[in-house]
Amino acid sequence: MNKILITGAAGFIGSQLAHALWQKGEQVTLLDNFSYGLEDNLIFEDHDFRQEIMRDDVCDRPMLDKLFARGQFDYVYHVAAITPLPDCQVDPGKAVEVNVAGTVNILEAARKYGAKKVIFASTSAVYENCTHFPTAEDDVERTTLVYSTCKYTAEQFCRAFSETYGLPVTVLRFANVYGPHIDCLRTQPPVAGYIIRELYYGRRPVMHSTGEQRRDFVYVEDLIDLAIRVQQGSSYDVINVSTNQTYSINQVYETIARIMGKEEILPERADSSHYWYRYPALYEGSYRISEEILDNEVNKHTECSNALAKKKYGWIPQTSLEDGLRATVEFSTRVLEKVAR
Ligand SMILES: NC(=O)c1ccc[n+]([C@@H]2O[C@H](COP(=O)([O-])OP(=O)(O)OC[C@H]3O[C@@H](n4cnc5c(N)ncnc54)[C@H](O)[C@@H]3O)[C@@H](O)[C@H]2O)c1
Repeated sequence: MNKILITGAAGFIGSQLAHALWQKGEQVTLLDNFSYGLEDNLIFEDHDFRQEIMRDDVCDRPMLDKLFARGQFDYVYHVAAITPLPDCQVDPGKAVEVNVAGTVNILEAARKYGAKKVIFASTSAVYENCTHFPTAEDDVERTTLVYSTCKYTAEQFCRAFSETYGLPVTVLRFANVYGPHIDCLRTQPPVAGYIIRELYYGRRPVMHSTGEQRRDFVYVEDLIDLAIRVQQGSSYDVINVSTNQTYSINQVYETIARIMGKEEILPERADSSHYWYRYPALYEGSYRISEEILDNEVNKHTECSNALAKKKYGWIPQTSLEDGLRATVEFSTRVLEKVAR
């Protein structure tokens, strides 16, 4: 039995990961500050983590020091982050505090108290300006948005700690993740969660641009399978967590609408320049967000090679988009029914 810390454990991916590790018989410690996490994510049929989770912040260094001294963790999954991109853009200082300094705090505590490995949740958003597809781990170009720049900077600290101290770290760059526990309630949910919510309420989802932009979607259970496999590696590596297949936003929309029996609701089209219209601060001030950058964010193509994950860890994603979306719809519909009561 390993002792494992999971930060961000009340979020979409962290909660599912914590449950999967617990089911394997590992001794799990869960931590989240509930800035975005949900209590409901901690309730599973076979276990309820609500009383066990630590309500703490990865920016609290004295707390982390005590926790790591006491916990003597074998593996640390650093999943906590401010994840909505516009939230990072609106408050870049906070994004750096949590997404960069928070990661450094975890690395330093892991170094000091000798974790066997840190596994860091990074993102394919670091490829936002890449034009080479399928994008491999070495193909990163400069980043522009606050979220991706923070994540890329945090990756550099992972590398630096590994080189300087020999601390084993795996950076996992997740493509667009979907599945049960996706947050469909927040201001700007991930695309699948947003479509499900709007269709559930019988509203026309606002879809930016033509919808023909294509993305690489990976199912949360497949991601967890790889996240567990990478415990084996003993040095530093960066691994894409992706299917290497793409679907257009229109295809995702149509699949969800069909599963929900809402094909008659057609999306409303909006220009990419309005993408973050719910965040007026970005459109105000002396310098406003560039239309070109928004256009790139809406229309970018993501297609990430998973050849390295296959070669190094024998990982092959198993879940079809249809099956994964069906499970996502089932779960999110239950969440929305509960909210409606
Ligand atoms: N979901 C995706 O498609 C996706 C894609 C690429 C990368 N990622 C990365 O995967 C990780 C998990 O993403 P998610 O979709 O589960 O997001 P999420 O927002 O559901 O979960 C993140 C969790 O971190 C917690 N958190 C935030 N700040 C914290 C702090 N200071 N201290 C402690 N906890 C804090 C939040 O409360 C939340 O529960 C993130 O690091 C994210 O950047 C996600």
